[in-house]
Amino acid sequence: MEAPFVLPRAASIEEPLRLAVLISGGGSGLSSLLSFQSSKPRCHRTVLVIADSENAGGLEHGRGAGITTMGIPLPKGRQSTQRRLAHESMILRQLKSSGVELVVLSGYMRILTPSFVAIWKGRLLNIHPSLLPDFPGAHAHRDALAAGVQTTGCTVHLVDEGVDSGPILAQREVPILPDDDEESLQDRVKKVEHTLYPEIIDLFCSGGVSLEVLG
Ligand code: GAR
Repeated sequence: MEAPFVLPRAASIEEPLRLAVLISGGGSGLSSLLSFQSSKPRCHRTVLVIADSENAGGLEHGRGAGITTMGIPLPKGRQSTQRRLAHESMILRQLKSSGVELVVLSGYMRILTPSFVAIWKGRLLNIHPSLLPDFPGAHAHRDALAAGVQTTGCTVHLVDEGVDSGPILAQREVPILPDDDEESLQDRVKKVEHTLYPEIIDLFCSGGVSLEVLG
């Protein structure tokens, strides 16, 4: 049986929700969230940044903001499932020691195991650069261009045991232009992500999303 979604407490400016942001790359989404959080009092604050590599460029955004920030690479030398579980158990230890209440995936390019998802289900958000259920997976822009669609976008959703398949909280459309390549499309989608994700995180943390909405 799959684990239920259990949402975080409704937070307030006085008692903000403690967020961890997980990244893999340059962390432009992390940077936009940190700017959003520092621009005025919010009901959430980022207390931990973790990347799945020690040299992810985005780690600098966390360090620059004085947040506990670390790269945790996949441990070497074990069978694949064991490695993933060992990796996640290192991450889980950090989430616990920082008192994290909500995990925000922001360009985190690993599929989390069902055991990790079960612990955080309802308190685990992701942003994906397409209008899900279209173009899930690691190559959303390439797949959208190959399909010849004229509109793509981004989706904020709760993570479940599948790949980019959890309940959708918000989507925003982005046009595909005739001369687009993967890079130009990615840049246009990221601009929209950088306003959508902080807004939806804000709504979610303030209790603005109910279990009924999730169906
Ligand atoms: C973002 O566009 C995000 O939607 C995407 O990675 C990019 C990260 O950019 N995520 C995925 O593709 C997850 N499957 P960033 O490192 O500059 O924030």
